[in-house]
Amino acid sequence: MNKKEKGFSGSIGFVLAAAGSAVGVGNIWRFPYLCAKDGGGLFLLIYLILVLTFGFVLLTTDVAIGRKTKKNALNAYAALHPKWKFLGYLTFLVPTLIMTYYSVIGGWILKYIAAYLVSDGTAAAQDGYFTSFITSSVSPIVFMLVFLAFTAWVVYQGVEKGIEKFSRIIMPGLLLLIIIIAVFSLTLSHTDADGTTRTGLQGLLVYIKPDFHGLTAKRFLEVLLDAMSQLFFSLSVSMGIMITYGSYVKDDVNLSSSMNQIELFDTGVAFLSGLMIIPAVFVFLGTDGMASGPSLTFLSLPKVFFAMGGIGRFVGLAFFFMLAFAALTSCVSVMETLVANCMELFHKSRKSMCAVIGIYSLVTAVLICLGYNILYFELPLPGGTTAQLLDLMDYISNSFLMPFISLLTSILIGWIVGPKWITDEVTKNGEHFSRARLYSFMIRYVVPIIMLVLFLMSTGLLNLFSI
Ligand code: PHE
Repeated sequence: MNKKEKGFSGSIGFVLAAAGSAVGVGNIWRFPYLCAKDGGGLFLLIYLILVLTFGFVLLTTDVAIGRKTKKNALNAYAALHPKWKFLGYLTFLVPTLIMTYYSVIGGWILKYIAAYLVSDGTAAAQDGYFTSFITSSVSPIVFMLVFLAFTAWVVYQGVEKGIEKFSRIIMPGLLLLIIIIAVFSLTLSHTDADGTTRTGLQGLLVYIKPDFHGLTAKRFLEVLLDAMSQLFFSLSVSMGIMITYGSYVKDDVNLSSSMNQIELFDTGVAFLSGLMIIPAVFVFLGTDGMASGPSLTFLSLPKVFFAMGGIGRFVGLAFFFMLAFAALTSCVSVMETLVANCMELFHKSRKSMCAVIGIYSLVTAVLICLGYNILYFELPLPGGTTAQLLDLMDYISNSFLMPFISLLTSILIGWIVGPKWITDEVTKNGEHFSRARLYSFMIRYVVPIIMLVLFLMSTGLLNLFSI
């Protein structure tokens, strides 16, 4: 295969593509609602510390493994240590599971774009709109198909002409759009029927001011765990994606500074999303609206756009467009990882592997859609929630496999091959790696312990909250 065709053209291409993977529904939907739930500024502060420590360690590990071995997860772990080949398979399982439902969520976003295009959004703001859509039999499948077709098309174009080119256009545009909506959100103000007026700037304070009110050790732990699981998901680490992207990075790229830029981009977008969503929800729905949890995007936000009056339709449209782009670049990275691993495994062309993975994605995504009607079930999960098919896939990949993979990777790198294997790769052109010592310490001692606790807790084997 032509080496030149295979990789990113340079540092910026890599950073934007990796940021494209990292910035997704997690940043725009999950981060703001966790933040609202977990005491605003307190969550922000903890999250920031975790990004600079854990996030950086996990991201560095993945990208350096990819670039050094020039292989995808399936073979990269075997190249690191023959006995650890199984870890490659375990890692490969994560995008295999995520692929089944990510395009379904992408389809939901497209549905809202369609709703704001053809109507003024009154219908989307009604109670029951979302539920009646996802439980219907045909519509979710049609929208999912459109989203999947876009994804497959980008992946089919290849690394440089597809993923990189696409991310170079989308990512700066997304950033601009999010800043515009965030500024708009801060200028909002609304008076309730009872005469109380709430402004966007008050909402800003709620967002960034740490709320230590009634803070107990148990509550602190809860916030810490939320922030930790958000971090995994948000940076797309421990699922082979960053190993695949790392394998496309040229040897002369400064990994350390690229990693800083990716972290900054991902965290910046998450922060700005909060800035865009929290003040708006606060202004129109008050503090009660902010506690709405996962339903924030699809249930509460359409109500906020509706309450804005005429302009709400355009803000809603812009918001869901942005969310669709963010989801698309993430879904592309999941599919690319599957295609790239299979190309390497079966020595087949991109075209034929895109077809195979495309069919796999299609069939499994249809099943996930059916999970809300004919395949509906309610499965209790350790966290106390009940899961349908989509939540179950999400639970196995994010709460179960990802901490487990990170735990095993940290043992492999920290104790078997040694952290130097990674730090050497980062500094191989004589680059300055200011956090090298922090890296070695974290990967040997901190990451394994915390991942073990996280794994035991998310599987329900350990319940610190009852202690
Ligand atoms: N990192 C993405 C986000 O924050 C989510 C994602 C998870 C993307 C897994 C790809 C794979 O939304």
